[in-house]
Amino acid sequence: MAEISSNERMEKIVSLCRRRGFIFQSSEIYGGLNGLWDYGPLGVELKRNIKEAWWCDMVSAHNERVQLDGAPRPFQMVGIESSIIMHPRVWKTSGHYDLFHDMMVDCRESKRRYRYDHIKGAWVEHDGQKVFVTCITDGDAKEEITRRALLYFKLKAKYADKLVWHGDVIDLTSINETGQVLAPDAKEPGTLTEPREFNLMFETHIGAMRSDDSKAFLRPETAQGMFVNFRNVVDSSRVKVPFGIAQQGKSFRNEITPRNFTFRTREFEQMEMEFFCHPSESRQWYQFWRDRRFQWYVDLGIDQKRLILRDHEQGELSHYSVGTADVEYAFPFCEEGEYGELEGIAHRGDFDLRSHMEGKLVREGDQLVVEQGEDGKPKYPGSGKDLTYHDEEAKERFVPHVIEPAAGADRTVLAFICDAYDEEEITNEKGKTEMRVVMRFHPRIAPVKVGVFPLLKNKPDLVAKAMEIRALLQPHMTVFYDETGAIGRRYRRQDEAGTPFGVTIDFDTIGENGDENKNTVTLRERDSMKQRRVKIDDLLDILLREIK
Ligand code: GAP
Repeated sequence: MAEISSNERMEKIVSLCRRRGFIFQSSEIYGGLNGLWDYGPLGVELKRNIKEAWWCDMVSAHNERVQLDGAPRPFQMVGIESSIIMHPRVWKTSGHYDLFHDMMVDCRESKRRYRYDHIKGAWVEHDGQKVFVTCITDGDAKEEITRRALLYFKLKAKYADKLVWHGDVIDLTSINETGQVLAPDAKEPGTLTEPREFNLMFETHIGAMRSDDSKAFLRPETAQGMFVNFRNVVDSSRVKVPFGIAQQGKSFRNEITPRNFTFRTREFEQMEMEFFCHPSESRQWYQFWRDRRFQWYVDLGIDQKRLILRDHEQGELSHYSVGTADVEYAFPFCEEGEYGELEGIAHRGDFDLRSHMEGKLVREGDQLVVEQGEDGKPKYPGSGKDLTYHDEEAKERFVPHVIEPAAGADRTVLAFICDAYDEEEITNEKGKTEMRVVMRFHPRIAPVKVGVFPLLKNKPDLVAKAMEIRALLQPHMTVFYDETGAIGRRYRRQDEAGTPFGVTIDFDTIGENGDENKNTVTLRERDSMKQRRVKIDDLLDILLREIK
């Protein structure tokens, strides 16, 4: 990869995504809608392949009789698809109604709203006036603060050394005074309100009447669908603990500051699995899923140098969690040494099943107890249904513990896109040096598996043979047929789309140069650009082997 800055790299990636049809802004012709994105023809294939690889690893290719490497013992896996709008009581007992919020601040001058913990700033002084200059940036905060301070103090860029800095860039959350804070889009200091809670759930109404009774929520996570269906799955599919229930689907969060392309959005897709096990084995299973989920990204080609598995500090844990580790990726928009979360693997204990049985739980010392309302009754009562599990062999009844690997499909797609993006200088077919942009996707997730190219489009025999080859491959994989332009340009177009193989049908193929290479084609590999001749009879087998 040629040397380019992270910002430049991210700009190139965003531009390629739009130009080549990976990702578009939602409702773009109307000016777009913040925090919402659409997938184009290449993006949708990539996302489907990633989701399929996840589903395959978690559910369909999982053979319950075989003990997987490192697993404490064999286990079963099943899938479900639950509704996006669930009973409002689900969110009350789960804690989302009371606790799923971010702190926000409003700017009285710009009328903008910010997530409190996303604002960065520094104390900067000039001519006896000291102001806490803030910004929201994914890039170099110091650079942005300097720019804003110069503007505020009405100084030209060449007088940047006249600014006196008091300390480093810090979070707004770490200062107490607000009077001298210059908000991210304000011209004068002191315009920010005190931080307030903002619930992230989108509200809607069920039925024709709009009242508090008809209020419902778009789910902020898919996980609750698995908990409320625990009894149904146990009773209907004869699964035995330990087992997992997996689901992929849309979730919605009214993020205050959606940002970083598709990293933080308001509508996104999750790939979650709830694994139910005996409490005495839960720590082992937590370790197993923590390591296995990290390996999934590595096996699909993510560069290990950019991936970490980070254990949460005690204070970082969610209200229910006994232990959590995140799989994180060094996105180009992250500052040096920082990472963005792709997936959390949480040990949730018996919090969820107990909450849906007994009522919303709160921690009291090291105990989880049902939260009481002012009337001394459970504040948010559970369903009262029996969500325990009876182990017939051991003759034991218990509330299973849950291990939850929760991944975001869109963040995973973005990580694969960022990781795949590469530029290299090559000598082209005419002997000239040019820059090649290549998306080095693992063949299993690549949106298009093979490009089929007749050498010339005005030679009917070549075109007919190429069509035949397309018909041979198309039932088994995504094929892109392209007959326009010089062959080198056609290769380059597919390199940008991340297509791992190209098949060229030339005069040898149709026997115009004798019988030696008749019925063979050129197979070109995207990464090495190496070409070899293969028999048409062997082509499908070779490609199937390579892409699976
Ligand atoms: N059930 C647990 C749960 O939902 P989470 O960490 O809030 O945990 C899981 O979400 C994953 O969903 C995250 O690791 C991330 O990949 C994805 N995700 C969460 N919020 C998102 C957002 N606003 N935009 C895109 N992806 C998001």
